[in-house]
Amino acid sequence: MSKNTPETALRRQQQILGHLRSSSNSDNNHATAIDPNSAISHIAIYGAGIMGSGIAQVAAQSGYKVTLWDLTQTDIDRGLHAIRRSLSKPAQKTEKSADQTADAILARISTTTDQLQACASADLVIEAIVESLSVKQDLFVRLAAVAKPSCIFATNTSSLLITDIAANLCAARKKRMVALHFFNPVVRMKLVEVAYMDGVTDPQLLPLLKAWVCDIGKVPVLCRDTPGFIVNRLLVPYNIEARQLVERGDATIEDVDTAMKLGAGYPMGPFELMDMTGLDTGYRIMKAWYENAPGLAGDPRFKPSPAMEAMIANGHLGRKSGQGYYKYTK
Ligand SMILES: NC(=O)c1ccc[n+]([C@@H]2O[C@H](COP(=O)([O-])OP(=O)(O)OC[C@H]3O[C@@H](n4cnc5c(N)ncnc54)[C@H](O)[C@@H]3O)[C@@H](O)[C@H]2O)c1
Repeated sequence: MSKNTPETALRRQQQILGHLRSSSNSDNNHATAIDPNSAISHIAIYGAGIMGSGIAQVAAQSGYKVTLWDLTQTDIDRGLHAIRRSLSKPAQKTEKSADQTADAILARISTTTDQLQACASADLVIEAIVESLSVKQDLFVRLAAVAKPSCIFATNTSSLLITDIAANLCAARKKRMVALHFFNPVVRMKLVEVAYMDGVTDPQLLPLLKAWVCDIGKVPVLCRDTPGFIVNRLLVPYNIEARQLVERGDATIEDVDTAMKLGAGYPMGPFELMDMTGLDTGYRIMKAWYENAPGLAGDPRFKPSPAMEAMIANGHLGRKSGQGYYKYTK
């Protein structure tokens, strides 16, 4: 049973908003009361992969009712397996209260392969499917036909513009569309970028979403709709420079990773990070930016290299496939 009825969810989100308003005056433009019709208690998550399964876990851990969708039962089972494995780790096992046992958390996550049914009663849709513009566009068009008018649509895209993903939606749906960009691994990474279409997204949604992000134990930052938002706009060129160092033969993968950990204080090196993200996801980001992104298209830095394409063609996608720049045992 979820601890979040629509009323308790609204009360908690309203309390957090009050706290945010009193502790910061930097975003007064967005800090207004939460519309009771918008309170978030049921979340539909599309994609049970690395990100979708992690988002489902953190939302369910915070008491939210979650419906997790993916294409096939095999995809869903893989996502549930990742959640179970994460919940069985010692740090998670210390949670003692009845609604925080692994069974209670898992009981708040229902699953389905029925795309339309998944979002029928959702207050918030978070899309975490493959990083492909046309696939994401098509999904939101289908969901727009069945979701509640008040439902908030959020994409977890790493690189695409919300504006492009929402291109085929009506004005009313665009008003309630944002990005909620989580980081990998979702359970550990504290940041969520809350990105919005300036002049299109309803500004009233932003305090609600910031409050919701805080309620699931994360820290929100706001960003306008721009390729890569804040983190990936800085991180993707850094990863590219690292790969080029190695492709030129200037340094080894291991030495670049060691250098950035011990010389720059980063928790992992760029190659470890790219393996964790998934080379296919990184490739799609670069390709999309090289082909289409405003201000970035045609920039030779973003042209995927033949070496990267060869790794992907060989199925070396990083941790998730067992091999990327490094080898992994499952
Ligand atoms: N991996 C990361 O580090 C990371 C971080 C932040 C954001 N993201 C973004 O999150 C999203 C998901 O990434 P991920 O790493 O979880 O990927 P993933 O490959 O682990 O999962 C993607 C899911 O999409 C589903 N899918 C594939 N083709 C589909 C289709 N045609 N229609 C519907 N669903 C389909 C797959 O079944 C899979 O479960 C992407 O937009 C990615 O850019 C990824």
